[in-house]
Formats: sequence, structure tokens, C-alpha cells
Amino acid sequence: MERLKVIFTKNQISSKVMELGALISRDYKNESVVLICNLKGAFIFLADLCRYISAPLFVDFIATTSYKGTKSTGDVRIIKDLKMDVRGRNILLVEDIIDTGYTIEYIIRYLELHRPKTIKICTLLDKLCMRKVNIDIDYTGFIVADQFLVGYGLDYDERYREMDCIAELILEREKREQ
Ligand code: IMP
Ligand code: MG
Repeated sequence: MERLKVIFTKNQISSKVMELGALISRDYKNESVVLICNLKGAFIFLADLCRYISAPLFVDFIATTSYKGTKSTGDVRIIKDLKMDVRGRNILLVEDIIDTGYTIEYIIRYLELHRPKTIKICTLLDKLCMRKVNIDIDYTGFIVADQFLVGYGLDYDERYREMDCIAELILEREKREQ
């Protein structure tokens, strides 16, 4: 059986996204930035965030995979590549959630091969206590505990992405009838 416990409401998320957008706008000012969305989880966050950024921006997508159910496998693969040429540009990598850090570390190493001017990271959620590799995050929405979260783009085996809040997914074994 699956139970959902709301962790961040729609309103809490939208004020946080607005706050992040203001910080990013202040930092880039009139310099343009390419927002790179790591699909699929970050698609809703990116869509909201880009509307709060006043700096000139471009959007591109990359897709990686590493999760099976609720576990990170550590085996990261790029399954959809960038379309834009990002050489000499400012990149802002947009993530839904950073857990072990393996995914983001892999993407950063890959993006560095394209010789951008700068690379920064913006994540809505950070499971800091689960980190396995050391990476600096430039913009963080919320720090969360070791819990499996769904909604606002995040999925459990492709479900729950459309929820407007973020909830903890609690998997309970079905109780046997006595
Ligand atoms: P990492 O490589 O362990 O840092 O995992 C990062 C990726 O795993 C994210 O881009 C998410 O797609 C996925 N992920 C990590 N934690 C969760 C979660 O709690 N819910 C849904 N997806 C998650
Ligand atoms: Mg993801």
C-alpha cells in the first residue's frame, strides 16, 4: 500500500521558486544564461523558475537515468543529449533533487567537455545527508531528510509527477487479514 504525506505545499513551493528566481536574476543581471533541465524530474521546476528570471535566457534539456524504484543505482547514463552549443556560455543546471550527487557530478563532468564559460547548479531539493560526492550547489530550495519524495515533477516509477505539492511516499506492506 502507498501513502502520501505532504511535505511542501503548492504555496511553499511557489514562494521558494520566486525567491530562487530573484537570486538568479540578481547574479546574472544582463548576462545571458542557458538553463539546462535534467529531465524528467526537473521539468515543472524549470517551467516555473524560468518565469521568475529576468536575465536573458535560453532553455535546453538533457536526460539521465540512474534510479530504479526508490533506489539510486549510481550507474548514470545520458539518454538525451543537449541541442544547443554551450561553448563560452553561462550554464545553470536545473535539478529537481540531489541525493548521492552521482547524477549531478556526471552531468557537470560531461558539460565541462563543452567548454562553457561558467557552470552553476540550482536544485529545488537537496538530500544533503545522503551525499556520496562533494559538490558545491549554488542555489538550493529546501534541504530534506532521507525520505522518498514525489510530486511537482518527481516520480515513483513514472507516477505522481503532476501533483502540485511535494509529498513523502510511504510504502507499507499490506496487512494480512486476521
Ligand atoms: P543522485 O544521483 O543519487 O544524486 O540522484 C539524483 C536523481 O535521482 C534525481 O535527479 C532524481 O531524478 C532521482 N531522485 C533522488 N531522490 C529522489 C526522490 O526522493 N524522489 C524521486 N526521485 C529522486
Ligand atoms: Mg531527476
